[in-house]
Order: sequence, then structure tokens, then C-alpha cells
Amino acid sequence: MSDTTNRVQTGVGERSYTVPAEVPILPLRDTVLFPNSFMPLAVARESSVRLIDEAIAGGKLIGVFTQKDPTQEEPAQDDLHPIGTLTHIHKMFKLPDGSLRLIVQGLARIRLVRIADTRPYLRAEVVEAPEVTRDSDTVEIDALQRNVRANFQQVVQLSPVLSEDLTALAANITGAGRLADFIASSLSTIGTNVKQELLSMLDVRQRMAELNRILTKELEVLELGSKIQSQVQSEVGKSQRDYFLREQMKAIQKELGEGDDQAKETEELRQKIDAAGMPEDVKKEALRELDRLSKMPAAAAEYTVARTYIDWLIALPWNKRTEEAIDLARAKSVLDADHSGLERAKDRILEYLAVRKLKPDVKGPILCFVGPPGVGKTSLAKSIATSLGRKVVRVSLGGMRDEAEIRGHRRTYIGALPGQIIQGLRRAESRNPVFILDEIDKLGTDFRGDPASALLEVLDPEQNNSFRDHYLDVPFDLSEVLFITTANVVDTIPGPLRDRMEVLEVPGYTEEEKLRIARDHLVARQIANHGLAAADVTFDDEALSAIIRGYTREAGVRNLEREIGAICRKIARRLAEGQTGPAVVSRAVVEDLLGAPRHLDEEMKDRTKDPGVAIGLAWTPVGGDVLFVEASRMAGGSQLTLTGQLGDVMKESARIALSWFRAHATRFGVDPQFYKDSEIHLHVPAGAIPKDGPSAGVTMVTALASALSSRPVRSDVAMTGEITLSGRVLPVGGIKEKVLAAKRAGITTVILPRQNAKNIREDLTEELRRGLTVYYVDEMDEVLKLALLPAVPAGRLAENPKPEEPPRRLSLA
Ligand SMILES: Nc1ncnc2c1ncn2[C@@H]1O[C@H](COP(=O)(O)OP(=O)(O)O)[C@@H](O)[C@H]1O
Ligand SMILES: [Mg+2]
Repeated sequence: MSDTTNRVQTGVGERSYTVPAEVPILPLRDTVLFPNSFMPLAVARESSVRLIDEAIAGGKLIGVFTQKDPTQEEPAQDDLHPIGTLTHIHKMFKLPDGSLRLIVQGLARIRLVRIADTRPYLRAEVVEAPEVTRDSDTVEIDALQRNVRANFQQVVQLSPVLSEDLTALAANITGAGRLADFIASSLSTIGTNVKQELLSMLDVRQRMAELNRILTKELEVLELGSKIQSQVQSEVGKSQRDYFLREQMKAIQKELGEGDDQAKETEELRQKIDAAGMPEDVKKEALRELDRLSKMPAAAAEYTVARTYIDWLIALPWNKRTEEAIDLARAKSVLDADHSGLERAKDRILEYLAVRKLKPDVKGPILCFVGPPGVGKTSLAKSIATSLGRKVVRVSLGGMRDEAEIRGHRRTYIGALPGQIIQGLRRAESRNPVFILDEIDKLGTDFRGDPASALLEVLDPEQNNSFRDHYLDVPFDLSEVLFITTANVVDTIPGPLRDRMEVLEVPGYTEEEKLRIARDHLVARQIANHGLAAADVTFDDEALSAIIRGYTREAGVRNLEREIGAICRKIARRLAEGQTGPAVVSRAVVEDLLGAPRHLDEEMKDRTKDPGVAIGLAWTPVGGDVLFVEASRMAGGSQLTLTGQLGDVMKESARIALSWFRAHATRFGVDPQFYKDSEIHLHVPAGAIPKDGPSAGVTMVTALASALSSRPVRSDVAMTGEITLSGRVLPVGGIKEKVLAAKRAGITTVILPRQNAKNIREDLTEELRRGLTVYYVDEMDEVLKLALLPAVPAGRLAENPKPEEPPRRLSLA
């Protein structure tokens, strides 16, 4: 069969050839040569160079077969696809490095029968592999051919790499098989394997069908690409690479049906950003983020992050504020309507407002209300907001240890949020609210940074017009916010913060003040809170006093309000259960509803019945309190045991107390050698609460003297004062709270250091001093004379006996 002469059309005429029985084989690494097409080839393998040299010298015919694995260096028969192409070497150039460039022309399909030789180059027996066309297929082939031509024309039109000339060339080709080969070899985008498959398809109908499928797919891809292209072109004239790619992605998303909702959402967000009244640079940032957002797939985790951020920016009150018109008369009436008493605090607030009214742009100090719980600090701050017509937000700083709670987490953290300041402003929906920073004395510090320094920035009028929250990462102007802080104690407020604030003390209330607050405010509020009408319940004063005295023990009015609430709740239930008629709450009703009262004065009597217990007065952050000091003596050897979690200063006081008493034991009928065979134990109950300070000195001496001399201490006397080794009594702090606590506990006599007399004169109102006898002392001796009762056998204690010989006495009535 090899002698049959064939013809193949070339670009320059026709070439005749005969398929030889054996040809040199040139393995192709990554390309396929089709019959009738020309192709440049580079040849570098030494054996291949030799092959070409000899082929040129001979009939210039070789067989090319594509390797199955392009990396194979010395392919054997199994490494080559079995169908290849008989090829004519059209032209050859030798390059200086010895490698060759060829232009080859495919002539016909051949099948590799057997490798005949591997050296010096591959030679193989081949046979022609003729095309198969069945008569039954002609119609279908015809139809396919038209389709293929049409599709190819479009592919050429759309493709940026295929030359328009190909359409004209294709139009001149007759014969389905040749057309298929021509197109297959022209398509640069299809892979070597696909091409080899087409080459191997001897059945023309099958080859056409497959080619048609490939073209259709190619067309789809190109159409999509051109859609992208034209969309990009209409939206941006010339484009940066990034932008171009994003637009392509958008178009793809749109094609997949993902883009529409997102585009709408983006548009909505853009409008909201416009409406939010952001400063220019913030708006720019917001739009930049929006731009990023619009290019992300909505399902991406990052999308939610960006979206949340934009939402935050939109939600902040950039230009929302309440109009402020400071009207002092109105402010006063609001403060008075909300709070009884508190005259000093109210006056100071009104002065503060007056200054603001006169000089609106001078930044006043930041007010800090200091006092025990439940005295109305937070509630005063809220009233200030009401009287100014400002919104109000409150953030509790208690226990806050992490700087990020003030200033937020950076957005890179999963689930990051702005800090409390920005969150508060969002809640306020106004850029000039009253912002209450509650419990600023309870700020903590640890490894997560110092919230106090972040707060410092918030409160500093020099810096806070561009406060930068870590999450927002754009400045927010806090200069119009009116910050008010509250604290129980001043000492634990970090120094630099304290310096920025003006402290306004709100002391605890007396029984009378509490009664007035209850009558004027708490009762009405609790009645309303429990769904009752004012006509349903009335509390008489005696009942309120009974609640104050028998059921609460506090500086403020929180528990008082709670107990009143408890009574209202019970009355509401009775009404709901069908009882009729208004309820009058009397003392008896209180006892009925709340149970038996806990009278402190009885506790006092009970605890001081036996010698060795003295009542001291202590100052604590939650107000003053009475404090028992217990002393006892047991057999042992010169030992002092201290219990009750006493701090160092308090322990020193105890040593001083013991030393002083040992030096003066005889005066109290005690053997001065008592310590030699005794162990003395001093205990301050409520052991779980740490206590410190020197002010229990006098109480310790009194308890010791009482225990050692077996003389009980008066149950209606409380005392406070530091002592020295020589027995002098030195002044101490917290007098006002201590005296209030004594009154609450039913104490009628208080012993104070003389130098504290001025505190009583200045800080205590007439009303507060009523019913209280105060003794001022210089020396320990005087304390003991006042406090110790005569030695009587236990159990035969007279009720409230008078001291032997009252020393200098100052009644305050
Ligand atoms: N002088 C007062 N007049 C009226 N109500 C008061 C007064 N002092 C406290 N209250 C009420 O007592 C409750 C506790 O006050 P709050 O402001 O929470 O105390 P603080 O912040 O000092 O702990 C509130 O309901 C408050 O209105
Ligand atoms: Mg409070």
C-alpha cells in the first residue's frame, strides 16, 4: 500500500507523497501535528538532530508521534500515541548552538506498527491510517460541517488571539475531515490531549461531532469573556489591573446570579453613608470600605466583617445632637423634683451649669460624685441630663481591666467591636449626651493594658475631639459629650484621672433624710412600679421609720427602696386576690409583711453584755459602720494573737494598745505582770473583710481593759481614734460617715478625738446632731472612764447605767 501516490495541497501548490514502510520517528513533546497543516518545530535532542540531518539528505519524510508523557527523554513504543502524522520537512535552519528550527508539513495520518530501531534515532514501521466515512453518515456530517463552520467563524471573531484570516482559509477547505483537521490545529486554546484525541479519530462523523462540541464550549467561554470585557469597558474607560479583575469577578457573580442583591445593598449603604453626616475623611474611609465590600462575594467571612464596620460608621451620631439651652430655673426644678435634700450637691451642680451657660466653650472640670452606694449619685447625674434636655448613657467601669473595653479591639480580631465609649454614643444617638462613667474607682489594670490611660484620653479636653477607637480607626469628636463620673472612694481613682475631676461628695443620709426621701420619692415610685394606684396604698411615717430602723442598715436608700418595693408587691398580690379597699401600711403591717425587725441596738446590748467587747466606728467605701472589737485572755506566755484579717497598720495599733495598757495596768486594778502567763487574743469580727487603719486604737485599748479588768463596756457608746504609746488620742478621718453609722445603729454616745471637733461643727447639720451626745477626748484615760462600767458579776448588769464621773462633756443639742 505504501506505493500508492497521494497528493496533499500546500500553500504553494500540491505535494505528492507515498507512505514508506519504515520512517524515522520524531517524538513530539507537547504538540500535535495534523495532516495538511504547517508547523514550526524546535529540535534539540541529539538523536533528533541526527535524524533530521539524515532525513534532509533522504526523502525529507519523517513520522511525528506525540509523546504520552512530555517529560520522557527516550520514549519507547508504548510512550508514544499510536496515531501520528507522516510529515514533510519543509524548511530547516541550524542555530549556532547546534539545535534546529524546522517548518514541517503534515501529510497524512499514520499508525505506528513497530519500532524497528532506536539507534542512532528511532525508526519504525508505519502504515497509513485512512479516514473512515460511511455513506449513512453523509447527511449528519453535512449538518455538523455547517455548524462547525458557523461556530468557528464566531470563535475567530470573538477570540483575541485567532486571526480573522482563518475564516477565509476555512471557507476554502472542502471535505469534512480536512476541515476538522484544519480547525483543530488552528485552535490554540485546546490542550494537546484534546488535539491528539481528534487526530486519533479516524471516523470523520465522530471527529466532526467532537469538534462541534469543543467549539460550542469555546464559544460560551469567549462570549462570557466578551460580556465581561464590554461591561468593564462601559464602566471604566481604561483600567488598572486590579480594578479590571474585580469587575470581571463581579460580572461572573452576576452571571451566576449572585450580584443583584449585593448591588442593591451596596447602593443602600452608599445612601446611608451620605446621610450619616460624617466628616469628610471618615466618609472617605467609609466609601473605601464600601468599595471593598462591593467586590467581595457575599458569602465570604470578610464580607460580614466589612459590612458590620460600615454599619457601625453609619449608626454613629456624627452630626446628631440635642439642642442645649441652659435654663437654671428649670434645672433647679428638675433637680429638686427628683431628689430630696442633697443641697450642697445641687448647689454645686447649678454653679457648674451657670459657668457653662456663660462660657459655653470653656471646658469645665469633669464632675465626680463620690459617696456610699444608694445615695443618689447616678440618679443625680441622670437629672442633670434631664435638666439640660440631653440624652443620657451610663457605662459601669466596675471591674473593667481591659483597655479594649474602653477603646475597642482592632478589626483584625474575629468578632471585634468598638469600646464602651463608642457603643455608648451609638446608644445615645446624640453626639452631646450626658455620659455617666459609673464606679470609676473600681477600674482595674492588668496585662491587657490600662483602661485608665484610655479613659484619660477620653476625658482630656485637649485630646478628646479626635478620640480614636481601635475598632473604628477613624477619629470621633467627644468634645461635646458631658462626662460625669461616680465613685465610692476617691483614693482608688488613678491619680491622673482624679486630677481631671472635681470631686463632689454625696454623703450618707440620716434617718430623717431617709424618711423624707421615702415619703417624697421612693413610695410613689414603688407603687407605680408594682402596678398600683396612689389611692391603693398609703405608708404612714411610723411604718417608714420602722423599715429604716428595723430592716435596713445602709448609708444610702437602696435597701429601703427594695423593702418598700417588697411591701408593695405583697399588697399588689392581695389586691389581685380580691381584697378590696385601700391599704394603709402601718408599723404593724410592716412587721406582718416583712417579718420581725432586726434591731441593731439589741444586738449591741447583747454583744457587749460580757466584758471584753467594745464598739468602734469604721469608715468603709460603702459608708460608715459600727465595728466590734473583742479581747480575751487565756493562759499562755506573753503572746498577742490578732485575728480578723487586720492590715499592718491595724496590727501596730493593737501592739500599741497592749503596751499602753501594760504600762497602766495598776490603775485598773490589774496585776502589771499579767502578760507573763497570759496569751491575749484580739479579734475584729466579720473576719472575711480586710480591715486596716489606725482609727480602732481606742477601741482596742477599751476592749483589752474591759477583758482584763472584767468591767463591761457600755452598749450605747461607740468610739474612734488613733492612740500613741503615751496614751494620746489622735484625730481620724471619715467622721461624718462614722457618726451617721452610729446613729443608724442606735448609738447615743460617741467618743471622738478632740481634734475632730471641727468636722462635727462643719459637716453635720443641726438635725444630724440631734439625739446624740459627743465626747471629745485627748487622752486614753478619758475614753476608759467614759466607756467602762463598774465591775459587776455578769447577768446583773443595770440597764444603761451612767459612767462614774462624766468628764468634760460637750452636748451638741
Ligand atoms: N436624695 C434623694 N432623693 C430621691 N431619691 C433618691 C435620693 N437619693 C437616692 N435616691 C434614689 O435611690 C436609688 C439609688 O440611687 P442611685 O443613684 O442608684 O445611687 P448611687 O448611684 O449613689 O449608688 C435611686 O432610685 C434614687 O433615685
Ligand atoms: Mg450608682
